[in-house]
Amino acid sequence: MKKKTHPLFALLTAACSIQAAEPAAHRPSVERMAHACGACHGTYGHSIGPTPSIAGKPEEDFVKDMLEFKSGQRVSSIMNRIARAYTEEDITALAQFFKNQ
Ligand code: HEC
Repeated sequence: MKKKTHPLFALLTAACSIQAAEPAAHRPSVERMAHACGACHGTYGHSIGPTPSIAGKPEEDFVKDMLEFKSGQRVSSIMNRIARAYTEEDITALAQFFKNQ
């Protein structure tokens, strides 16, 4: 025999599960975020070109640079636009990732 669920209850359950799944599904891993930096700063932040290396950069310096790029306080060719896309939480995670590379 099939168990009957009230349609409103089913809708409510569905809505709750969507909400719960949202943040995890939309936040990329720090490794994935860091790979976007590698195109210019080199794999894992070890630059082989004119762009500065960011591997091993102290966490405070990294966060300070990124926040200054984000606010526009430090003028940059491209980093202002890039930094704006990251939250402070992302920046801290990236700083911790790159300092260990
Ligand atoms: C399109 C190329 C490009 C990408 C992608 C890029 N950067 Fe940069 N980044 C630069 C350039 C170029 C500079 C040097 C400052 C300038 O000339 O604008 C820089 C500077 C920096 C600095 C300051 C380094 C220093 O010692 O002065 C940090 C920190 C930094 N980038 C972090 C990141 C992070 C984190 C990412 C990924 C989320 C990233 N960058 C992605 C091009 C890039």
